[in-house]
Amino acid sequence: MSFPKGFLWGTSISAEQAEGAWDEGGKSPVQIDYATAGSTKEHRLIWFENADGTRGSMGLWGHLPKGAKYRIFDDLHYTNHVACDFYHHWREDLDLFAEMGFTTFNTSVAWSRIYPYGIQGGVNKEGVEFYRQVFTRARELGMDPVITLYKYDEPVYFEETYGGWSNRAMIDEFVEFARVCFTEYKGLINKWMGFNEINILMAFGLNNETAQLRFEELHNQIIASARTAKLAHEIDPDLRIGAMLCGLCTYPLTPDPEDVMANYEYFQNIFCYCGDAMLRGAYPTFAKRIWDKYGVTLDITEEDKVIMKEGVADFLGFSYYMSNCITTHTDGTPVGGNMQMGFANPYLKASDWGWQIDPTGYRYFLNLLWDRYQVPLFDVENGLGAFDKVEEDGSIHDTYRIDYHRAHIKALKQAVEEGVGIFGYTTWAGLDLVSAGTGQMEKRYGMIYVDMDDKGNGTLERKKKDSFFYIQKVYKSNGEDLD
Ligand code: BG6
Repeated sequence: MSFPKGFLWGTSISAEQAEGAWDEGGKSPVQIDYATAGSTKEHRLIWFENADGTRGSMGLWGHLPKGAKYRIFDDLHYTNHVACDFYHHWREDLDLFAEMGFTTFNTSVAWSRIYPYGIQGGVNKEGVEFYRQVFTRARELGMDPVITLYKYDEPVYFEETYGGWSNRAMIDEFVEFARVCFTEYKGLINKWMGFNEINILMAFGLNNETAQLRFEELHNQIIASARTAKLAHEIDPDLRIGAMLCGLCTYPLTPDPEDVMANYEYFQNIFCYCGDAMLRGAYPTFAKRIWDKYGVTLDITEEDKVIMKEGVADFLGFSYYMSNCITTHTDGTPVGGNMQMGFANPYLKASDWGWQIDPTGYRYFLNLLWDRYQVPLFDVENGLGAFDKVEEDGSIHDTYRIDYHRAHIKALKQAVEEGVGIFGYTTWAGLDLVSAGTGQMEKRYGMIYVDMDDKGNGTLERKKKDSFFYIQKVYKSNGEDLD
């Protein structure tokens, strides 16, 4: 048997991509509530009204222009408002998860449901009770949930009040939110992760103009993470806190030493800058090279340094979908990917969204992370976004998704046999939900089909895809039956 007894199998979803109910239960708006869907080629847009009354839009991670206000326009459709409506379907969804053999389940707690208007507005009991019911039922069904505190969804209130994460007041707000979660769900949740894919602030759109603000925001999130980890250990020494990073796996496109060096630097910048800060308790020495390159000056206080040392994370959660190539040459073919742009690898095929499918890269990446950090790993996200077709009899033959998961779980098994210390694997995502990058419902990842399209047409009925039965077989055999 290669997978250890007790290995966690499950799925990952997130509050803002699954719950819907965007203005119910005392929840306050989040930025993504103002975003519409893109397509296979286009990312989504966030909409607002400018100070002069004209309509404006910006991409993800944009900042509202001065005087502008987020606004809902009646002629636009906002996919996150309903999403797959987990908020009203969670009982049925958890039953289906249990039927698939899940022993864990990852979602995020919406800050906007717990503290919709920050500390001054007080705790929203309805939000606290919503998650208590979900977590209690998940436990009754045999799942040991691993929960994320933050998945790109702070209340808009914070942007309006503090201007966002560059303001250190956000740290106290976040730590207080975490405190409520750790105490309210003590005994129900034993493993938490702070910021989902904290390193994406280093990915898209980092340039000389954005860098100063980005690094300040990131530093504040790193300090908030460390304080949260320390707090969790004080509240309950048995709580385990994970760092969670986007697994951006890359290769040099050619054997040119310049490409090899560029690729290594990319890994340092995009992954290890945050990984080292959170798992080794200090910024790595190469951080100076990055700050100098972008002309960034960071205010890292002596107190910050102590907090980073005291608040080291216990495990490393990460996502893995694909790989990309890095080159210094000009003749590569640019391709997209999860939170990154890179160059096409002639040995790999890509999804309809241009993400290059690479199970061997998964084994490589697992080994790389284990060798560098030597802390327990947890794969929070692995999956294939695809268009699915519902047959006349209601069946969905998603063999491409089965092939994807089979190849990746085989690679995971090999890595485990090679000694990589990993304690769980959760697919992205158990049920179809809104894509983070494109805002589409029709970029489907689920083993459970949800009848909802990008325009808001659909009954929200759940249907089992062929992959449902495949994952069930794999999970119930503890990863042994992979054929
Ligand atoms: C991960 C994010 O990086 O990628 C998820 O944590 C996201 O939130 C997933 O959904 C897949 O990306 P996308 O853009 O296809 O939804």
